[in-house]
Amino acid sequence: MPTESREVRLASRPQGEPSLDNFSFATVQIRDPNPGEVLVRNVCLSVDPYMRGRMNDAKSYVPPFQIGQPLEGGAVGRVIASQDEKFPTGTYVFSMYGWREAFVAPTSHLQIVDAAVAPVSAYLGLLGVTGLTAWVGINLIARLKVGETIFVSGGAGAVGNAACQLAKIHSCKVIGSAGSEEKVSFLRDQLKLDYAFNYRDGDPLEHLKRGAPDGIHVYFDNTGGPQLEAALSSLRNYGRIAMCGGIAGYNTPAPGPRNLPIVIGKRLRVEGFIVSDHFREIPAFLEEAVPALKSGKLINRETVVEGLDAAPAAFIDLLHSGARNIGKMIVKLSS
Ligand SMILES: NC(=O)c1ccc[n+]([C@@H]2O[C@H](COP(=O)([O-])OP(=O)(O)OC[C@H]3O[C@@H](n4cnc5c(N)ncnc54)[C@H](OP(=O)(O)O)[C@@H]3O)[C@@H](O)[C@H]2O)c1
Repeated sequence: MPTESREVRLASRPQGEPSLDNFSFATVQIRDPNPGEVLVRNVCLSVDPYMRGRMNDAKSYVPPFQIGQPLEGGAVGRVIASQDEKFPTGTYVFSMYGWREAFVAPTSHLQIVDAAVAPVSAYLGLLGVTGLTAWVGINLIARLKVGETIFVSGGAGAVGNAACQLAKIHSCKVIGSAGSEEKVSFLRDQLKLDYAFNYRDGDPLEHLKRGAPDGIHVYFDNTGGPQLEAALSSLRNYGRIAMCGGIAGYNTPAPGPRNLPIVIGKRLRVEGFIVSDHFREIPAFLEEAVPALKSGKLINRETVVEGLDAAPAAFIDLLHSGARNIGKMIVKLSS
């Protein structure tokens, strides 16, 4: 049973792009669990763009990380010692306890995940908050209809590739963008998108004209920036934008779309959303996602880096155009 745990802490707040200096490592003592608690050893950690916002000392929909405190975030771990019979030793659990090797927590803070359904890392990706984000954006925000044309920016990323796959299941025409040729091949050859392009190679609007000569019905926005501007020009009358993320502006603000008034003339509906407002939808989401994953209609793609020490660099990379990850960026810990 572990008596110590290493953890990653916020050492300082970045200005612009984060660097390794903004993170520090510490070792803490782990106590025995009390009644109603368990000791969990993490097996995989989630690396998420929204963590960049939490590094700023700014009011937002989630509180900022505190300097000297461990970075909270999604993690899946295994119960090593239990004081709750509903969470026996060996149970896999999802938590928001973040970038640390082990921790003690009340079981009310944990959700059991079923390791028989999929590799447990999938509960950070396709079967987790990531997949739910894509599902909410497609079904509840964009209200995508069968046969429509949708453009997904960040299409090879964690949320983006899930959104592309869900849209294909809706028998839609799907256009995806990504920041490298390898990712474009993934979208075209593995996800079977109707059109995929490298947004760093040529004008995104020209690509959209090629992929959707009659315009798009829906834009699933993961990036903001120039791709949002291109999507606004491509959208058809009464089109919808599900605004999921604006990663092009997370390190340094990205310019706003110069053509924003198009929203008026085209009567567009532009709606932002935060996935945590929709957690009540988890059963409906899993009812669709689990059978689709089991039958191969959905694939769970992830990029794995090994060891807690690798987490800060993986995070810094994620915020780069052309980042290395295809699918969900996961940190695997030795268990
Ligand atoms: N609304 C919500 O509740 C919610 C929940 C989860 C995530 N999100 C948002 O969804 C988006 C995707 O998140 P994720 O977890 O799936 O991450 P991800 O897409 O797996 O990883 C981030 C990707 O962003 C791309 N990127 C980085 N800098 C960029 C830039 N300047 N311009 C365009 N693309 C850039 C990189 O791919 P390329 O190679 O394609 O550049 C990178 O792989 C993020 O904006 C995130 O904040 C929102």
